[in-house]
Amino acid sequence: SVDMSSFTKQTGYTSYDPGFVNTAPTSSGITYIDGDQGILRYRGYPIEQVAEHSTFLEVAWLLIYGEVPTAEQLEAFDHKVRRHTLLHEDLKRLFDALPHSAHPMSVLSSAVSALSTYYGDSLDPKDPEQVEMSTIRLLAKLPVIAAYAHKKSIGQAFLYPDNDRSFIDNFLWLNFGLMAEPYKENPVLIQALDRLLILHEDHEQNASTSTVRLVGSTEANLFASVSAGINALSGPLHGGANEAVLSMLGDIRDSGEGVHRFVERVKNKEDGIRLMGFGHRVYKNYDPRAKLVKESADAVLKELGVKDELLDIAKELEEIALADDYFIERKLYPNVDFYTGVIYKAMGFPTRMFTVLFAIGRLPGWIAHWREMNQDPHLRIGRPQQLYTGPAERHWPTSR
Ligand code: ACO
Repeated sequence: SVDMSSFTKQTGYTSYDPGFVNTAPTSSGITYIDGDQGILRYRGYPIEQVAEHSTFLEVAWLLIYGEVPTAEQLEAFDHKVRRHTLLHEDLKRLFDALPHSAHPMSVLSSAVSALSTYYGDSLDPKDPEQVEMSTIRLLAKLPVIAAYAHKKSIGQAFLYPDNDRSFIDNFLWLNFGLMAEPYKENPVLIQALDRLLILHEDHEQNASTSTVRLVGSTEANLFASVSAGINALSGPLHGGANEAVLSMLGDIRDSGEGVHRFVERVKNKEDGIRLMGFGHRVYKNYDPRAKLVKESADAVLKELGVKDELLDIAKELEEIALADDYFIERKLYPNVDFYTGVIYKAMGFPTRMFTVLFAIGRLPGWIAHWREMNQDPHLRIGRPQQLYTGPAERHWPTSR
């Protein structure tokens, strides 16, 4: 074990580290990543094993409480989450005040922020019971808010959660319960969505989790901290990438320029375009989640009998890029988001919902980090330094 106190003293030195590539503002026992080897582990368990053997809520428990739950613990947890799915009826009126054209991520962060106005009895980060209550409330209500953001964007009525359904089935029901095609429980889709959400549950100090921690370091409540994390996730270089991948694939199809020509334009950095869904700040070998997602993409499209031209373009892009020196030299490989959009589209989610799905997946990680941070005896308010580059002292022009 390491005595962290020696690390937390003021050193008198400031390191200039844009993007915090070399700076660890915290220690953490939740997720291990070795980017060079392509390793991801939740609480020590390899992601491949986690994805094969668990369910979303089981992994949420593992991340938040540190161990795989017993059957009784999981059942009680699942029961508690089901009990808290309903949104206060007045809170539902918040959705009426927002335009239909609003991006569902903006609706999501606004509604999560508003949770702190309705659930004032679970805001104190120092009270373990309140922390527990806000944890359950968020896990239960975020999928419902997400489904309402979806329904709102397509002008459909909100459904009440059906708490006899499992966590994932309930979420699909809330989204597709009123569609022209009657909604039917489909184990292949449920399993695929469960897996995608599991793969997104945590990824140590990524931009949104760091945001949740930074906001939480001020002793802001969990709803406020998570709402900030959702906003951080909304950018195209982070959670917005899955949406950006699909619009890129659509552009390639519509332009008719062909995949080779597009890749050439990326390599020439024309208009700063990048191959969305490629590259990762940490994985410089391969993203272990990408392989698992690709398997799910094949399973879902087969089950639904969907023939998707965009998937063909994605596969061709991957093949060309993986054999091209530009991408090889820069260690650019498909990341988790390269195929998720194709799956979500096949399931019937509109493109603008993709990042919202990422947020549901990442929620347990945000909660686990926020809770871990609040238990840290060395917690200090996050307050980075800067290198000042503005003018030296000068005098206000009194005559102009
Ligand atoms: N397409 C083309 N070139 C790229 C790409 C890409 N997707 N990603 C990086 N590069 C190039 C850069 O232009 C740069 O080239 P140069 O050395 O000639 O200037 C080099 O690779 C290094 O790039 P950086 O931006 O320094 O890499 P960084 O680690 O900072 O960025 C990031 C990582 C943001 C993920 C980047 O790879 C990217 O923009 N990818 C596309 C967006 C994306 O898919 N984001 C999802 C991330 S995963 C997630 O959030 C779950």
